[in-house]
Amino acid sequence: MHDNDTAPGAPCAVIPELEPVPVAGVVPVAQVVAAHPVHGEDFTAKLAAMQQLNARLIFMRDEQTIFEEVMTAAQSVLGYDICAVFLHDPAARALRLRAWRGYDDRVRGFSIPIEREIGLCRLAFSEDRPVYSPDVMADPNYCMADPELCSELIIPIRSRRGPIGVFDFGSRALYAFADEDIRLCCTLVDHMAISLENLRLFDELASTRDAIILGMARLAESRDGAMGGHLDRICAYSRILTEALSRQGTHARFVDEEYVETITRSAALHDIGKVGIPDEVLLKPGHLTPGEYEIMKTHAGIGGATLEEMVNRHGSFFMLKMGADIAWAHHERWDGSGYPRGLAGETIPLSARIVAVCDVYDALTSQRIYKAAIPHDRARDLILAGAGQHFDPTVARVFTEQAGEFQRVRSRLRD
Ligand code: C2E
Ligand code: SIN
Ligand code: SIN
Ligand code: FE
Repeated sequence: MHDNDTAPGAPCAVIPELEPVPVAGVVPVAQVVAAHPVHGEDFTAKLAAMQQLNARLIFMRDEQTIFEEVMTAAQSVLGYDICAVFLHDPAARALRLRAWRGYDDRVRGFSIPIEREIGLCRLAFSEDRPVYSPDVMADPNYCMADPELCSELIIPIRSRRGPIGVFDFGSRALYAFADEDIRLCCTLVDHMAISLENLRLFDELASTRDAIILGMARLAESRDGAMGGHLDRICAYSRILTEALSRQGTHARFVDEEYVETITRSAALHDIGKVGIPDEVLLKPGHLTPGEYEIMKTHAGIGGATLEEMVNRHGSFFMLKMGADIAWAHHERWDGSGYPRGLAGETIPLSARIVAVCDVYDALTSQRIYKAAIPHDRARDLILAGAGQHFDPTVARVFTEQAGEFQRVRSRLRD
């Protein structure tokens, strides 16, 4: 330990929380402020600006946006024009530079090995504490040779599982950070850390949820073993068709980026109800009798009702809700002659109208236990011929424009 590594006092070791409800074990910032009644209006204004930033951070959905916002606040609110965010990359055993201000582009890709003996960033990270060097050139721990930099404050970015990186504030002045500046910087970094943690939990939850739902769909599909690539193709077709519809703006009211991402996953749920169909029907090598076909047709309602039940019990989120629409209605027809409910036209959810085209294209171009495959061109013509009867005419037209893309997916993702 070197004398220059002035560790700031206790307030920096806690996570100040500006939310009205303090987290257990966390000292609310109001208490911290009350314990140091020396701050002027300037400090209050800075706190208010940071509170506003905090409210915005909660809604940010990607790391880079969070970094940029926080660095902007470091510059505009706190007045430090040199800053950098390093995140720990466990595989590389290094702190990797992820965002910066005030350094030129040559620092891109820079990383600091955490096993290195010296370095202020490494020290702050491995000892999980803020490190303040009021005069870096006199500091034996300093090793990043930037001739402009005079003082530096490095604060660990903490998650529930310990430090995940460091935030580096730099100044071209010596002794640039007063005690209260250090506390404000700590507050700013802690807000950023909370936002990053939220983001990570959110992403983890979303991918766990998707994995479980898609796994369920695959399990259902595995009963008729020959359909290996079917789910992946249906999802890929649905994305192509939905993106094309979105570019054309015909369904702009519904189709945004989230809609595209959601249908790309929910489409996999269309036939989930086939788990409820007995083997002798599902796996019958020849044509179905009318009675068997009636049993087969119940797969739409079984899947739809199951997913709807999940929505009712566990809360609606878009993927399940859309999955329920698709399972219920992917065999409905534009002219009202489909099943199970005989819906017509735009009363059929758009997502189901899109998946209907994708499902039939894939069924036609695939060999099934009950039929041979037909070539791409014939499948395309059959779908075009079904426009306005079986299929939504707009969706069918956009399909024919994208038919080449469908064919590419078909040959890339084989059974
Ligand atoms: P699937 O095989 O995935 O077919 C989905 C949809 O693609 C069918 O819905 C139908 O609209 C269309 N399709 C499939 N093959 C052909 C075809 O050769 N010609 C035409 N014009 N359209 C075709 P559909 O008819 O409601 O069938 C739903 C599911 O019922 C099928 O899913 C399949 O699993 C089963 N199925 C239908 N017909 C038979 C059959 O004769 N034998 C057996 N074993 N299963 C059948
Ligand atoms: C079938 O696949 O047996 C029915 C074809 C159709 O209804 O279009
Ligand atoms: C939807 O699937 O989001 C509804 C859109 C429509 O029915 O046109
Ligand atoms: Fe189906």
